[in-house]
Amino acid sequence: MTVTPLITEEQIQDRLSQLGRRIEEDYTGRPLMIVAVLTGSLVALADLIRRIQIPHRVGLVQASSYRGATTRNTTLVLNESFAPDVVGRDVLLLDDILDTGQTLAALAEHLRDRGASRVRTAVLLRKIGRQVVPIEPDYIGFTIPDVFVVGYGLDYNDDYRHLPYVGVLAE
Ligand code: IMP
Ligand code: MG
Repeated sequence: MTVTPLITEEQIQDRLSQLGRRIEEDYTGRPLMIVAVLTGSLVALADLIRRIQIPHRVGLVQASSYRGATTRNTTLVLNESFAPDVVGRDVLLLDDILDTGQTLAALAEHLRDRGASRVRTAVLLRKIGRQVVPIEPDYIGFTIPDVFVVGYGLDYNDDYRHLPYVGVLAE
C-alpha cells in the first residue's frame, strides 16, 4: 500500500485556523459544545479546539457503521458510554469525513432527540460523489474527489491515523 499526499499539514493547519475564527464569530455568546465522532475526528478535534478562543465544552461519541457486502444499507452502532449531556446546548458535531452522509445525519438527529437546542455540523473532508443522505455541513475543511484517504485521524483498518497530512491510499 502506498500513500500519496493530497492535503499537506500546513494546508490543514491554515484551514483549521480559518474555521476556528468563523466558529468564534458564529458562537460568541452561545453555549457551544463540540461533539466529536470517535475515532477519526480525534486529531482534528485536538487542533481545532486550540484555535477557538471562546468558552466551549468538548464531548465525544463513538459511532461505527457496518455496511452489508451486497447492499447499500448501513447499520449505525452508537457507543454512548461517554456521551455528553447536550440538553439545552448548542452542539457542533465534528466528524473526519462526510462520505454517504449517513453517520452525520443519524448522529445529528440523535443529539436533537437527546435535547440539544441546536445541532450544526463540521467535517474536515467532504467527499464528492457518494452522498445518499441530503445533509449540508455548516463547516467544511476541504472538498475531495471520490478517493480513499487516510491520515490526520482517518484510517484504513485502524492504521495510518497518525500521519500529519491526508493522503490517498492505493495498492
Ligand atoms: P458516511 O456515513 O458514509 O458519511 O461515512 C463516514 C465515515 O466513513 C467516516 O467517519 C469514516 O470513518 C468513513 N470513511 C468514509 N470515507 C473514508 C475514507 O476515504 N477514508 C477513511 N475513512 C472513510
Ligand atoms: Mg469515522
